[in-house]
Amino acid sequence: MTNAKRILVTSALPYANGPLHIGHLAGAYLSADIYVRFQRMMGKDIAFICGSDENGAAITIKAIKENTTPKEIVDQYHEEFKEAFKGIGISFDYYHRTSDPLHHETSQEFFRKLYAEGKFEERTSEQYFDAQANQFLADRYIKGTCPKCDHPAAYGDQCENCGSALSPTDLINPLSTLTGETPILKETTHWYLPLNKDEAWLREWIEHGKIDGIEHHDANHWKNHVVGQCKSWLDGGLQPRAMTRDLDWGVDVPQEIEGADGKKLYVWMDAPIGYISSTKAWAAENGKNWKDYWQNEDTALIHFIGKDNIVFHCIIFPSILKAHGDYILPTNVPANQFMNLEGDKISTSRNWAIWVNDYLKDLPNKEDELRYFMIKTMPEQKDSEFTWSGYQDAINNELVNNLANYVNRVVVLTNKYYEGITPEFDEDQEIFGPEGNDEFAFHDSELLRLYDDLNEMADSIRSFEFRSALSKLMEISTKGNQILQFNEPWKTIKEDEDKVKAVMNLSLQYVAAIACAIHPFLPTASDKLCNLLNIPLIAEDGDFVQMMDKLAFGEMLIDAGHKINSATHLFSRIDDELVEAQKAKLVPAATEDVKNENPIKENIVFDDFVKIDFRTATVIEAEKVPKADKLLKLKLDLGFEQRTVVSGIAEHYTPDEVIGREVTLVANLAPRKIRGVESQGMILMAEGNNGKLSFVAPDKGWDSGMIVR
Ligand code: MF3
Ligand code: ZN
Repeated sequence: MTNAKRILVTSALPYANGPLHIGHLAGAYLSADIYVRFQRMMGKDIAFICGSDENGAAITIKAIKENTTPKEIVDQYHEEFKEAFKGIGISFDYYHRTSDPLHHETSQEFFRKLYAEGKFEERTSEQYFDAQANQFLADRYIKGTCPKCDHPAAYGDQCENCGSALSPTDLINPLSTLTGETPILKETTHWYLPLNKDEAWLREWIEHGKIDGIEHHDANHWKNHVVGQCKSWLDGGLQPRAMTRDLDWGVDVPQEIEGADGKKLYVWMDAPIGYISSTKAWAAENGKNWKDYWQNEDTALIHFIGKDNIVFHCIIFPSILKAHGDYILPTNVPANQFMNLEGDKISTSRNWAIWVNDYLKDLPNKEDELRYFMIKTMPEQKDSEFTWSGYQDAINNELVNNLANYVNRVVVLTNKYYEGITPEFDEDQEIFGPEGNDEFAFHDSELLRLYDDLNEMADSIRSFEFRSALSKLMEISTKGNQILQFNEPWKTIKEDEDKVKAVMNLSLQYVAAIACAIHPFLPTASDKLCNLLNIPLIAEDGDFVQMMDKLAFGEMLIDAGHKINSATHLFSRIDDELVEAQKAKLVPAATEDVKNENPIKENIVFDDFVKIDFRTATVIEAEKVPKADKLLKLKLDLGFEQRTVVSGIAEHYTPDEVIGREVTLVANLAPRKIRGVESQGMILMAEGNNGKLSFVAPDKGWDSGMIVR
């Protein structure tokens, strides 16, 4: 919640090295868009800022791999991003880009000031250098064995297996992911921000919401997982962090600084400053003063991001802003967790994603359907999951059967009974409320109930609880539906005309309230509803306040005598065919990453190969190995003999599933004791993405004991 005079909302600048997918939307854009649209409807002075993140090592590397230039890559994605955001209805006030000269100037100015005021420490150290690619390697581009857990594919900055933060020199057997070569250590000089000196105030600010003992924000309003992650960074101790890199694409270190040659700003220094550049560009075009939004304590700054960006927005960027001295700090950083897809992590490199632009093309005019399901399953507090069948159920059961059906009934009945004209009603007319047996409901008491429900929804939005806000809205639709259901105008239209008038008038007020309240979530549906009701579209200029003022004073949202339009389709059913087609598009791809994680082993000669005796075999018995979750004990038939083999497949297959299967056996592997059982050979399995396993086997019904070569 915020009582600030102005609000500045930012969404993480998407990295221009791959297309936008639903994981991005779920992290930083949809939540921000709901919040911003709502605050505009509250009449707030608010700016919604974003842009493309176009610097950094990943873009250079992509350019090298694709034999093109960084500029071509960022130009392509910048355009694609704009299209995707527009199509899905993300209502930025400004979408800038970090290759823009204004951004280069802004971030250099920042660097200059920090440098001049002695905020950096200059340090020379040895860093990994790929001699073949002739460049220093960013932490992410070095892989090796984790010193803590032995995971063979840890990154230079972090081990994804055990979560340890690493630095590249910690890795055992480091390899460059650019060339696969072993990198060499080479001296280089950089400017470091001594984050270790910021620990005390960061802790006071994050844990207690105070700066220099003065209340800055209510620390209880920050999400637990955000504070938790920050605490663990602080508990682990902060290290000075280099604010420059040896790169040839990015923002130059100001050239007048000695030693600036060949140095670029660290992308995590320049990218968040991109919020400032973007605000400047917006302000210049809209007659605003950008400083009001960044340098005035009356402004609440809110960063919407995904959880992988928490440390940068809660620790590093605030330290940069504080070091500068003229800037406000964020009031909240309502980060979301991750959205998975059909049981697996979303991954651009493995092509395991729903790309926003593909969705818009494949399912035209269904942007609100995607928004709906994604808000409903937004990973606000913990990771969540997108499934196509979940999407289908939500649309069919909730948007079609509940909302669209309700609206349709109200519109059709109004047209049928009153030729589309909102009826006058008697205020003393008793009706049934949504509980059905409430004899004492009246039109005005129901309007107050609606007011209370809308208020609750609004509170949820203000506290970044978008899932519960959406479900509150759907509850309003359900209640409206129940009012119709219990009063049964289609039965009472003859005998109790007065009651039907009160009920139909009330129903129209409900639909009008939904048309307004749904706007932050499903803006297109809001437009359609307004058109149906023949009322002005939501203009995001205080509409919600105006509505609530009316309801609070018992005024009508739709006046008696107002003519509505005739019924049209709001949402249509998602059929199985569509869902199946979308599922079929999800084909995980092996990529460079797979090769990097499991490099092709050293060559062997033919004589080495023929030493291995592969045989076909049939599984004739299978049982679990007690106290070993992963192991199955198999009895294999080779025709001329039988073997016992212990195999690590129990998490993928039950004993019943493997009995009768053809397999390939390494028949001359020296016997080994596994959990007390002698294993006489090994069966071949292919390992897929996500650790899935598949038998490598001859055709069904093949003879056992035959040679494989
Ligand atoms: N490009 C980054 C990412 O995709 C986010 C940058 S956010 C900003 O993870 F603060 F740096 F802009
Ligand atoms: Zn590890």
